[in-house]
Amino acid sequence: MKVVGGSASVPLALGLARELSIDLVDVGFEKHPGGFPDGERYVRLLGPVSGEHVVLVQTTHPSPMIVELFLLADAIRDAGARRITAVIPYFGYGRQDKRFLDGEAVSAKAIAKHLAVDCDELLTMAIHNAGILKTFPLPAREVSGMPAIGRYLKSTKVDMLLAPDDNAIRFAKEASAIAGVPFDSLEKERIDSYTVKITPKALAVHGKSVAIVDDVISTGGTIAVAAKELKAQGARRVIAACVHGLFVGPAEANLKVCDDVIATDTVLSPHTKVSVAPEFAAAIRALR
Ligand code: R5P
Repeated sequence: MKVVGGSASVPLALGLARELSIDLVDVGFEKHPGGFPDGERYVRLLGPVSGEHVVLVQTTHPSPMIVELFLLADAIRDAGARRITAVIPYFGYGRQDKRFLDGEAVSAKAIAKHLAVDCDELLTMAIHNAGILKTFPLPAREVSGMPAIGRYLKSTKVDMLLAPDDNAIRFAKEASAIAGVPFDSLEKERIDSYTVKITPKALAVHGKSVAIVDDVISTGGTIAVAAKELKAQGARRVIAACVHGLFVGPAEANLKVCDDVIATDTVLSPHTKVSVAPEFAAAIRALR
């Protein structure tokens, strides 16, 4: 078995190779120094993969990383790999998981269809709707990142966790069991891409250190509203913790209300403080 990492996931690929005690195949990402002037992606495998089971690790954010993933899968297959397990830590386009309006693309399914051309199976993490994995044309499984988040939060000695909306309850529940602290939740209504509203609720947070746990932080709007509510109710310290830290648009300004922000290495950012390599390594060991 060998690991190949796309340029969006080099540290995680390296971590996975270490966890599994297998080789990481070097990849060239630039044909010429500085890459192609028009921004097109380029990949070249710099080691053999013939006859190997290859674990291909690539997050699909931002969008050009999807093209790079397909180029790598194609190169690995052409180089004679016998099996390709795609590890897509953050499955971009996962939120367009159905046709909300006539004529729309079901983006998540479209990506999966192309993935199935060269890959034999998919492992991903905290996808918006795990149910969609059953409709993909290749075996696909969700690996939980919450053990990693739970372990980290335990080390920071938080008093409780908070799910900022219904969707995050399953994440907060799992992380709270690992961190060994209780959790509560809020109800959220999304007004538009940048604006959310929460239903007022009394929380037992006075003087406590609270971590808001979510799958994704995008604009930080959700976290900002929840964190302000926690501070208004007397929380001593507020930590924002997510699996996928996209941190787009006004995110950094929105997150200023938090005392700390932590994200995993599914998407790399200055807030990446936790690795999910052990979680993916365990899932790969369990593959038959
Ligand atoms: C929504 O269901 C997700 O769990 C996140 O709460 C959401 O994607 C976060 O987005 P933003 O940071 O833009 O509020």
